[in-house]
Amino acid sequence: MMTAMRVLGIETSCDETGVAIYDGQQGLLGQELYSQVKMHAEYGGVVPELASRDHIRKLLPLTQALLKKTKLKLQDIDAIAYTAGPGLIGALLVGAGFAKSLAYGLNIPCLPVHHLEAHLVAPLLDESVPNYPFLALLVSGGHTQLLAVKALGEYELLGETLDDAVGEAFDKTAKLMGLSYPGGPALAALALQGEPGVYRFPRPMTDRPGLDFSFSGLKTFALNTYNASTQDKKAKADIAYAFQEAVCETLLIKCKRALQQTSFKQLVVAGGVSANTHLRNQLQALMTKMGGQLFLPAKEYCTDNGAMVALLGYLKFEAQKNNTNLANLAIEVKARWPFS
Ligand code: KG4
Ligand code: ZN
Repeated sequence: MMTAMRVLGIETSCDETGVAIYDGQQGLLGQELYSQVKMHAEYGGVVPELASRDHIRKLLPLTQALLKKTKLKLQDIDAIAYTAGPGLIGALLVGAGFAKSLAYGLNIPCLPVHHLEAHLVAPLLDESVPNYPFLALLVSGGHTQLLAVKALGEYELLGETLDDAVGEAFDKTAKLMGLSYPGGPALAALALQGEPGVYRFPRPMTDRPGLDFSFSGLKTFALNTYNASTQDKKAKADIAYAFQEAVCETLLIKCKRALQQTSFKQLVVAGGVSANTHLRNQLQALMTKMGGQLFLPAKEYCTDNGAMVALLGYLKFEAQKNNTNLANLAIEVKARWPFS
């Protein structure tokens, strides 16, 4: 049973300040998002201390703008959920301190949530949602995992990266070719102009059994290929194309293997890299061929945002209704936090 509970979600784990309100009956009422990308671009990557300070500047005005946009008052909020980790510790502390104090002032419960779990539920913001159990592929800047999702909160890790995350590999490969931060979207855009077949990158760890990944070798392969090339626009685009193609095919091979192994018919893909158009198209083709169903977040909910946090908060509050232990004042954050 959906209830009318309204949850304010707060995301500050990295370089995006996100706030949103999710209503159990009406769905997402609104969200505000501020990206610090421009500020960090000057340094070629996220500067943690600058990120924390900017979250402090943006959190209050964004929340006020959200209330104005949704025509709600603070008193209309029934609970707060915030990202407690994993992420940059200072950045997490800003969101946690804000969430806890606001909840204390309003005398409402406050729930710390896991950032990856929030990514995982992002496709549920859509109209068509998967049924448990399903296979999930999480591809973000810090994580690459295949999970068997049996129920909300019941996750079995089937495979993960042994070194770089997919997003990280995109970012590092983009950087070595001199593309601007954040590299993932820049590399994907460049790949559109690439010519297929000029370069062939390996598909790491696909020739042996298992569901783990390794992406650091692809980045080195890209570096060597780039150094041996003319390093002009065309060479960069052809390398971007070959790199993206190799990453996507590697992910596809492992997804297919995991689907066969689990006999699941539904695949959920989430996290920043799920915004990648080539990956989305390839995954759709795979699922059509396998007679299964693919669930992807809308592009705006692939990368970090407050909406997925508000939704996860709502789902958790619904599941733990009788838990009275939710209003404690401790500021709970974890820079590292294993998921399953
Ligand atoms: O989920 P996310 O916003 O933050 C983390 O939790 O890490 O993911 C960010 C990552 C970055 O590495 C970024 O380069 C990558 O997702 N990314 C993309 C695309 N959009 C974002 N990678 C490839 N293609 C894209 N279109
Ligand atoms: Zn994220």
